[in-house]
Formats: sequence, structure tokens, C-alpha cells
Amino acid sequence: MTLTLAPMEGVVDAYMRDILTRIGGIDLCVSEFVRVSNHVYPASKFLGYCPELEQNACTPAGIPVHVQLMGGDPLVIADNAAFVATLGAPGIDINFGCPAKTVNRRDAGATLLQWPDRLHAIVAEVRRAVPSHIPVSAKMRLGFSDKSLYLDNALAIEAGGAEKLTVHARTKLEGYRAPAHWEFLAPIREALKIPVVANGEIWTVDDYRACRDISGCDHFMVGRGIIARPGLALEIAAMLRADDPLALLSWGEILDLLETYDRLLVSMDNPNRQAGRLKQWIKLLGRTYEQATELFQEIRRLKEPCEIVDVVRANRDRHA
Ligand SMILES: Cc1cc2nc3c(=O)[nH]c(=O)nc-3n(C[C@H](O)[C@H](O)[C@H](O)COP(=O)(O)O)c2cc1C
Repeated sequence: MTLTLAPMEGVVDAYMRDILTRIGGIDLCVSEFVRVSNHVYPASKFLGYCPELEQNACTPAGIPVHVQLMGGDPLVIADNAAFVATLGAPGIDINFGCPAKTVNRRDAGATLLQWPDRLHAIVAEVRRAVPSHIPVSAKMRLGFSDKSLYLDNALAIEAGGAEKLTVHARTKLEGYRAPAHWEFLAPIREALKIPVVANGEIWTVDDYRACRDISGCDHFMVGRGIIARPGLALEIAAMLRADDPLALLSWGEILDLLETYDRLLVSMDNPNRQAGRLKQWIKLLGRTYEQATELFQEIRRLKEPCEIVDVVRANRDRHA
């Protein structure tokens, strides 16, 4: 079994990857997508999305980070993939799932799911351009407006030479609304020889178990679930070892993580964004921790990161 931390633009950046991989249980990370539209981008662009490239392409906890590319032109993606490989990317992932209108209007992301032959051409061109020891993978949704092409798309990606396929079990039209349609993953897994990674709506150990049972998959990717419940990967690992169920990380531990996150964010050198990221995480934690919902009410109007952290500290003193 492997567990991958999902790429999440504006949420799972190098700071969040650092925090979550320190906790443990994550085997692989994928960077936020880097959109490539008409030329080979400079190294600074890729290092911005994946600063780990300068540290052996691993998080400080030693977990590898693959670089995700997104675009509709096979040659442009391939040239960028070849370049990012020279920067030390240990794997290239191709995004066929982004639902954003601005992205889809520009012929990238989930819109490509309407043309299996285009998926094939993109994967094949990237595979051709990247040294053979560097894995090329792809991430897709079940379709654009409906699921009619889900198997054709998966088969096209495999035939193009991908070594792994992650499937977010929803169409573009279904956005991020529950449920995720895990039942569509089993036929993909059965039709493909490459590993299929199940993704979508895994928030708890019970969700993980249900997804595994329905999909028959051995590999999983978690996104919002592990942001909202940072101990999720450890809880799953304990369950697989048949240990006693692992307790939820305590609220005190979460407050410590928030403080560490804030210290890492300082290097952004952008207090507005730093405050935004702190608020965003506290809000998402509210899905698991009701204390986070209360904390969010206290900090939502604060502008300075240090003001937010003061409230986090006061909260910890109260909960100590
Ligand atoms: C805010 C946000 C940003 C995302 N950014 C990306 C991205 O850059 N690349 C990608 O392949 N998927 C992206 N996704 C999709 C996630 O990787 C994942 O497929 C989706 O959230 C479903 O998994 P989950 O239910 O575990 O969150 C994003 C999702 C969200 C909510």
C-alpha cells in the first residue's frame, strides 16, 4: 500500500508538505500543478512550486516530491518535462483533472478528458522526452461532463506510457461534491496493468477502508482529508498493522503544528499570504476539530500573522 499526499494548488505547498510529512505515513508528494502553455519555463518557476528540487527533491522528512505539469500541447509539456527532469525531479505527473474555468478555457486540465487521443499524445510525448529512469504518471477525473470516456481515457494514458494513474473519482462537472464514485475505480484497475491510485473523499480510516473495499485498489491519494485531519496517514498505517486504533491527534498537538507552520511561513516574506494560509488551514481543520471552528471565529478578522499566532498560543494555554 502506498499513500500519496494530493497536489492542491494554494494549499499543499512546500510548507504544508513539510508539516504533513513530518507527522508521518505519507510515501510520496506531488507538487501543485505548474501550467505550461507556450515555452520552456525558467528554473525559477519550477523551484517556486517545488523548492524541494534543491534538496534532493525530498521534503525535510525525506519524502520525494514529484512535479506536476499541466497543459494541452504535447511538445510544450514534453520540453518542460525534460527540463524539470534536469533539475532533479524524481517523477513527472501530468494533470488531466483541473476543473477551473480559466484553465479549461485555455485547453488544459479536465477539458482534455473529452479526447482520449490527446491524452495519449501528451503522455507519449512526455514519456519520450524524459529519461527512462524517471517515472511519468498522470492524474485524471472520471470525465468532463459525464463518465462515458473514463475507461478510454485510462487506457489511452496507459498506452501512452504512464507508469501509474491516479483517478479522482468524479467528473469535472461533479466538482468536489460528495460522493466520490469509487465504484468506477475497480473496472479501471482491472483493465490496466499499471497501478491505479484511488482518490477522492477519504476523510477517515473508515472512508479509507470503504474506498479500498469498493475499488480493490492498493494505492491511495489523500487531499482535503489529511489537511483536515493531519494524523490520518498514521491512523491508516496503525489500522493496517492491526494495532489498536490510533487516537486522533490532540487539539494541543494541532496547535503546536499551527505554530510550526507559522514559523515556516515566515520565509514567504509576505505577511498577507502568511495570514491567509494560517486562516485557510484553521478553517479546514474545523471539519475534524470543533475547537478549530471556534478558533477560526476568533481569528477570521485578524490581519497580521503574529496576531493570529497570539490567539493560537492563548488557545493552547487554555487547553493545556
Ligand atoms: C484547493 C484545491 C487545489 C487543488 N489543486 C490540484 C492540483 O494542483 N493538481 C491536481 O492534480 N489536483 C488538484 N486538486 C485536486 C486534489 O488533488 C484531489 O484530487 C481532490 O481534492 C480530491 O481528493 P480529496 O477528496 O482527498 O481532497 C486540488 C483540489 C483542491 C480542493
